[in-house]
Amino acid sequence: MGTIDISNKEFNTLSHLIYEESGINIHIGKMELLKSKIAKRMRSTKISSSRDYLNYLMNNKAEVIEFIDTVTTNHSFFFRENASIQKMVQALSLANAQSTPKTFKIWCAASSTGDEPYSVAVQMIEASLQFKMLATDISHSVLNTAMRGVYSQERVRNVPVAILHKYFQKGLGKSAGLIRVKKEIMRHIDFQKFNLITDPIPDEKFDVILCRNVMIYFDEPTTEKVVNRLYNALKIGGFFIIGQAESLMNLKHHFKAVKNTPSTFQK
Ligand SMILES: C[S@@+](CC[C@H](N)C(=O)[O-])C[C@H]1O[C@@H](n2cnc3c(N)ncnc32)[C@H](O)[C@@H]1O
Repeated sequence: MGTIDISNKEFNTLSHLIYEESGINIHIGKMELLKSKIAKRMRSTKISSSRDYLNYLMNNKAEVIEFIDTVTTNHSFFFRENASIQKMVQALSLANAQSTPKTFKIWCAASSTGDEPYSVAVQMIEASLQFKMLATDISHSVLNTAMRGVYSQERVRNVPVAILHKYFQKGLGKSAGLIRVKKEIMRHIDFQKFNLITDPIPDEKFDVILCRNVMIYFDEPTTEKVVNRLYNALKIGGFFIIGQAESLMNLKHHFKAVKNTPSTFQK
């Protein structure tokens, strides 16, 4: 397989395609990264020239999906940035204590390999709260990992030991070193493919939407569009939780920041 050589024009066509399909903003400084992703897909498709691969990509919708899957950053781990989740669980417990207990609807809108939705689920169960969760991502490969629910020990290093013992099973024999989320947690979560940019927002309204550590890959107009789309999917009073490195500053939106609660907004 020859070295990957793409012109600036080809780079621009590719980054435009990625932007249109996923909202992810790839600038020229990411040329080497993009080349490595092309090389990866060339190996999988057994196409030996980068020019032939780019032609194939531009004329094949299924390959566009595979390519976007390769380009997305899926890094995640259990109990990541957990302060905002803890505060959210406390707020829902308080709401339940003040009126008739209800089944909360939660949407984890860029759920990657499942670490985040499972982290929320175990804390909702610990707080004796009833809930249903939708967990979505653009990438089918991370959704497959999420639905298997099997992880390396490294990924659960932030999980409190008591919770680890209660809701996870240690792998034995060939699975030694791995850990599995128990089935009783999995049944609360419906994993589905969903593109934040192009798919229609679900008709149902949610009490909580988490959209964390994905908007950092979007530019401001795309972030604003996603934030307002998700606003429409929340119930009045519902919570919107973003990542610590993300902000709604400089965007036109109708959310109110929740006092003393990191990265959390309310409709
Ligand atoms: C860095 S992970 C964040 C996972 C998790 N929310 C967390 O905070 O640990 C970002 C995820 O966003 C997904 N993603 C990227 N663009 C997307 C889009 N347009 N629609 C839905 N998901 C997207 C990626 O596939 C990836 O799994």
